[in-house]
Amino acid sequence: RLEAVIFDLDGVITDTAEYHYLAWLALADGLGVPFSREKNERLKGVSRMESLDIVLEDSGLSLPEAEKQRLAEQKNDHYREMIGRITPEDLLPGIPELLDSLRERGILLGLASASLNAPQILERLGAARWFQAIADPAGLRKGKPDPEIFLQAAELLGVTPGHCIGVEDAAAGIAAIKAAGMKAVGIGSAAQLGTADLLVPGPSGLSVEKLMELIQL
Ligand code: G6P
Ligand code: MG
Repeated sequence: RLEAVIFDLDGVITDTAEYHYLAWLALADGLGVPFSREKNERLKGVSRMESLDIVLEDSGLSLPEAEKQRLAEQKNDHYREMIGRITPEDLLPGIPELLDSLRERGILLGLASASLNAPQILERLGAARWFQAIADPAGLRKGKPDPEIFLQAAELLGVTPGHCIGVEDAAAGIAAIKAAGMKAVGIGSAAQLGTADLLVPGPSGLSVEKLMELIQL
């Protein structure tokens, strides 16, 4: 029986994945480092500092820790400028209806985002009211693809992983959900998310019925 659905935020509930991309692109451009949509795929679900390492990996630059912190802060300032304009209109199509109908069935909702900006984004979207638990990425030992963040959300909700579904737009996120022993729903394309148990191009392709079918027992 389906007891809880645990959502990623960026790229699943709202399109902040695009703002992350734009902010990393601007930083890379400023450093003269090549950056592509393809490389950006690898940053989805990955923490800020790990993302910076990926952005810099082919640059030949070897920067001291303090300089890396400064660059990560610069990217984050730019990103925060963009998310400061988010409104409830920025919920992805289908999300309000889906979250409403899951709650009407008594299904618990959790958030498992690696973003330290997640609470502020939820607030701006007016979406905090739907969630019974929000995992805290600050205290995690390991990020996605490690299952830790999804397991933490399930524990906060008081449900066992076998009764949970995770929803993700990142390859690292799908791997984390599967490793947690949950069913994985991918938002995106098979090229990136081929291992998901159910794949849809956008959240409007999801319904409570489709989700409940994934967990029969
Ligand atoms: C999410 C996004 C990543 C981002 C990470 C950290 O997982 O998919 O692209 O790097 O959060 O976000 P933050 O807002 O803390 O920099
Ligand atoms: Mg995401």
